[in-house]
Amino acid sequence: MVRSLKWTALDFFAGSGLVRLGLEPEFTTAWANDKCPKKGAVYNSNADTPLRLGSIEHVSGSELPAADLAWASFPCQDLSLAGNLTGIRKGTRSGLFWQWMRVIDELAAAGKKPPVLVAENVVGFLVAGNGAHFKRAYAALKDRDYIAGALVVDARHFLPQSRPRAFIIAVPRDLPIHEFATDGPTPPFHSDPLVRASRRCAVRRSSPRERHCPYENCRKGANTCNRSSKVIAGASIRRYASWKRQSNCHYSMGGSACV
Ligand SMILES: C[S@@+](CC[C@H](N)C(=O)[O-])C[C@H]1O[C@@H](n2cnc3c(N)ncnc32)[C@H](O)[C@@H]1O
Repeated sequence: MVRSLKWTALDFFAGSGLVRLGLEPEFTTAWANDKCPKKGAVYNSNADTPLRLGSIEHVSGSELPAADLAWASFPCQDLSLAGNLTGIRKGTRSGLFWQWMRVIDELAAAGKKPPVLVAENVVGFLVAGNGAHFKRAYAALKDRDYIAGALVVDARHFLPQSRPRAFIIAVPRDLPIHEFATDGPTPPFHSDPLVRASRRCAVRRSSPRERHCPYENCRKGANTCNRSSKVIAGASIRRYASWKRQSNCHYSMGGSACV
């Protein structure tokens, strides 16, 4: 079965709906959630599909529709340079990242693992705990068989306001995206703090073998090889979409089998 070629998104921490607006018209938001009634009212006054009001803690992945993209603009208070930088520890507001992971696990268990995940936050995400929190988020995605890349986009490239935000984009490890990834940092979207944060993710403690650059057959050290900070290019979602169109494959249907 080939699903409609209009992509669908799940919008976690949807607030007033700015992500939904940004994703349109390529994506239809199939489901959105936020716990703030005022923001929910703004969302609902602009969207056809009403936002589900309430904490993500009460959301069960098994109840959600299958979708191409699961987006989380999770709370930034504990990652903000203006805050305490305690990071994504469970029990903190930014720690709701783990609730999102729980819902992703439940979606996967119900056969609806989203093929693209995006987590968006302030750039403090890259440096909080000297990068430990970014690395934990990256590891959480990797543990779920996603491969992740990141970019920083500053609104000043498009508008008269500086508002840099970090985006982690994750796709299934076996999705053929190599041609859509950059060979190394691409300014301005791969800032120095992001490159440093990505390099820290490439160095894993568990096995000495893994201290090598993780790409293809490269045997250089993860700290010395430029390719170890290889990151998915900003256009990856659109390119994934183009690949999907050509291959008639809907990854989230039937696990890794194209249908
Ligand atoms: C960074 S803002 C996202 C803003 C959103 N992208 C928008 O367009 O307005 C984080 C959002 O998380 C919501 N939030 C905080 N705690 C939550 C929870 N436990 N469950 C669901 N949403 C929560 C806040 O109300 C806030 O709207």
